[in-house]
Amino acid sequence: MTEAEAQQRGGYAEDVSAERLAEIGLRCEVDGEIATITLDRPDKRNAQTFATWSALARIGESLPEQVRVVVVKGEGPSFSAGIDLRMFTPEGVPGQGSFSSAVKIGDAEFEQRIRQAQAGFLWLRRPEIVSIAAVQGHAIGAGFQLALACDLRIVADDVAFCMKEPALGLVPDLTGTKPLVELVGLAKAIDICLTARTVHADEAMRIGLAEKVVARGDLSQAVRDKAAELLSTNRDAAVATKRLLQGARSRTLEEQSVAEGLEQAARIKALFP
Ligand code: ACO
Repeated sequence: MTEAEAQQRGGYAEDVSAERLAEIGLRCEVDGEIATITLDRPDKRNAQTFATWSALARIGESLPEQVRVVVVKGEGPSFSAGIDLRMFTPEGVPGQGSFSSAVKIGDAEFEQRIRQAQAGFLWLRRPEIVSIAAVQGHAIGAGFQLALACDLRIVADDVAFCMKEPALGLVPDLTGTKPLVELVGLAKAIDICLTARTVHADEAMRIGLAEKVVARGDLSQAVRDKAAELLSTNRDAAVATKRLLQGARSRTLEEQSVAEGLEQAARIKALFP
């Protein structure tokens, strides 16, 4: 794709070939039922661009059906230092513009662009998969939100979560606010976001941001172990159960009981045809 074409699409590339992903600073490897997405720009601490989010969305769309677990990880010392700070400069990110050019494109198009960026995060909650963020070092801004977009977070003991957006005059808009509030509660979410302070491993574990904290060198193995545990249950039951759990908060107990019954009837019919 030419730079002009990419610019026209707001940095959105359709192509998720390994070569195109490498240009963007991403890798995606599928091994049987496990897909591993790696942010692979360690020299820039895995800073993210609109092209990153577009490619994440395309990966989600083209994920092979057999995949049940998606691991999201970052190469190098940091999981991700968040949005590429070149977005704040007049020059912006080559082919993708800058914040100052983005405000000139008109409200509707701008909102559309944000929704396209969010699509890169939202698919990680699909019932058909369980997503695990393997987080080491800094997870700042968009990096924190990418970790929040996953179902589970397994973290290294050097993890440093920071919702830096309010310090930069922005709001977290990459789908992170809802999972953050649901995980840690409103008061703690206000504290974390409105101070833009860093949450380290002990606190992350204590407040429910992390499922597990391990030594940095043990992170990959801990994620592999969790993936194996997740794959040990029945696939269709896992999908139906995740659907139920995801809907539980918005339903009354009565409604949830009805939903459980419907899912169970379908399961029993499938198991005993
Ligand atoms: N965007 C672009 N480049 C970045 C970013 C970023 N967000 N973060 C780091 N880099 C680059 C640095 O410019 C540097 O590049 P260089 O070697 O060409 O000079 C390289 O990555 C290494 O960065 P250091 O700061 O040297 O690495 P260190 O490990 O000491 O610090 C840290 C890492 C804490 C993440 C620091 O780089 C940092 O604070 N980055 C900015 C974080 C930020 O404000 N992100 C935006 C959040 S808001 C949002 O995401 C919407």
